[in-house]
Amino acid sequence: PGAAAVPGRRILLAAPRGYCAGVDRAVDAVEKALEHYGAPVYVRKEIVHNKYVVETLTSRGAIFVDETDEVPEGARVVFSAHGVSPAVHAAAAARNLATIDATCPLVTKVHKEAVRFARDDMDILLIGHDGHEEVEGTQGEAPDHIQVVNSPDEVDKVVVRDPENIVWLSQTTLSVDETMETVRRLRERFPALQDPPSDDICYATQNRQVAVKKMAPDCDVVIVVGSANSSNSVRLVEVALEAGARASYRVDRAQEIDDSWFEGASTVGLTSGASVPEILVRDVITHLGRLGYGEVEEVRTATEDIIFSLPKNLRADLKASG
Ligand code: F3S
Repeated sequence: PGAAAVPGRRILLAAPRGYCAGVDRAVDAVEKALEHYGAPVYVRKEIVHNKYVVETLTSRGAIFVDETDEVPEGARVVFSAHGVSPAVHAAAAARNLATIDATCPLVTKVHKEAVRFARDDMDILLIGHDGHEEVEGTQGEAPDHIQVVNSPDEVDKVVVRDPENIVWLSQTTLSVDETMETVRRLRERFPALQDPPSDDICYATQNRQVAVKKMAPDCDVVIVVGSANSSNSVRLVEVALEAGARASYRVDRAQEIDDSWFEGASTVGLTSGASVPEILVRDVITHLGRLGYGEVEEVRTATEDIIFSLPKNLRADLKASG
């Protein structure tokens, strides 16, 4: 500890980084529910894909479960930011659960698109990662009309009923460039493929990738703070490498850093996924400071001022109690 800054060693700090509006709202919903109704409050799946957030909320009385059948009859459950399928809503209703739906409004938007296109009996090609909670939720809106396309390489496997009547949608947290490549290949095979009405990859995912792209060419190493199951965090590592960083690593927290990563490195880039509290980034800056990286310079490519209000029924209960 206490090592002095070494001349020539610096940190570039990407902005925007960290919490998006959907994560902020989802975490706030659990915190407010704990304050207002008291512990325990059940949460289906990780409220957001971040270990630290889940641990912190657990210590305050949140109980994380995988499925609603693990929640006692009549208890209160929060649905995570990634969204749920109609079947999950039905299962919760059948157990008389009081639900608070913290699904990000930008995920809900994709659900609505899926419902609309399925109603028009179109085949929907959902670009995204099989098994990711968001994809499961969206797919559940119209299981008979949706097939998942994981990557550009899977385009050749796609089978549709009518090539004149298809549309693509996507998960909100993908790599913009890779998704565009998948769409390009899909359109090569199916020229009549329709685009979604608006961007499905959300503003936060896009902004974090743009900032990393700008920063990475100047970096020897890029550190991304985020959990392994956080799609947008994992994408940031890929984007950093594609944009020219010599190396890039994802860590959940500063303690996971291996100091040998920085041998011969003068510039270290730093960013964080959309589910990552800023305190974890501060800890990494402190750690790097001990290694002589004393100068911190921000690389900002956008400013964000989006805020989503709390889920309606929670807001109403909070208001009723003054
Ligand atoms: Fe929503 Fe995008 Fe965040 S979909 S939860 S704003 S990463």
